Amino acid sequence: MSVTILDHALIQHKLTIMRDKNTSTYIFKQNLDEIAKLMAFEVTRHVSLKDKAIETPVCAMLGKEMDQQIILAPILRAGIGLVDGFRDIIPTAKIGHIGMERDEETLIPREYYAKFPKGLEDALVIVLDPMLATGGSANMAIENIKQRGAKNIQLVCLVGAPEGVKAIQEAHPDVDITLASLDEKLNEHGYIVPGLGDAGDRLFGTD
Ligand code: PRP
Ligand code: URA
Repeated sequence: MSVTILDHALIQHKLTIMRDKNTSTYIFKQNLDEIAKLMAFEVTRHVSLKDKAIETPVCAMLGKEMDQQIILAPILRAGIGLVDGFRDIIPTAKIGHIGMERDEETLIPREYYAKFPKGLEDALVIVLDPMLATGGSANMAIENIKQRGAKNIQLVCLVGAPEGVKAIQEAHPDVDITLASLDEKLNEHGYIVPGLGDAGDRLFGTD
């Protein structure tokens, strides 16, 4: 449906730190946490609310409370890096995990794990992955989540390539995409340019 680029000064500042090849694993994760909180704030802007009667110290009033279960769905491994920040902002969120690994030669993803909480049908499911390259991993994850009954899915990635955005829009036109940056292109190895390298390796120190 829509593609939103969160072109916010704080996000671009922190993303630049993450992109820098000299940034350590520790600082990489710290900035990812901070960006995740800012992205969580934006993508939950229109979560449905219901009235809640309360009394302030001054008078009775009708306040609001969230009326929708949020399920975070990080794509393993690198998607785990976005979970802490989202959970800080949405402590009632439940978490479903889906494991995807891209073959480095063919770039075709392989699903190796999936476990989700009940209630996908009525929840807002936010799929999390720092990188949207060819879109193969996110496409397969979204397909799996839809087959489990989810109807309201958003995809949140840090850095996307035009190729990945197009692939999601074609396969899942009902899924809104939010990015911190839409980068230039993919290189011949399927890496996003300029990108930030291998997000999982940089996050977990496995390079
Ligand atoms: C990375 C990244 C995405 C995927 C993006 O994961 O975290 O899941 O590649 O590429 P695509 O859009 O072309 O599918 P990777 O397969 O490297 O696994 P990892 O998270 O375990 O490092
Ligand atoms: N996966 C990554 O971690 N980085 C890329 O640039 C592409 C896929």
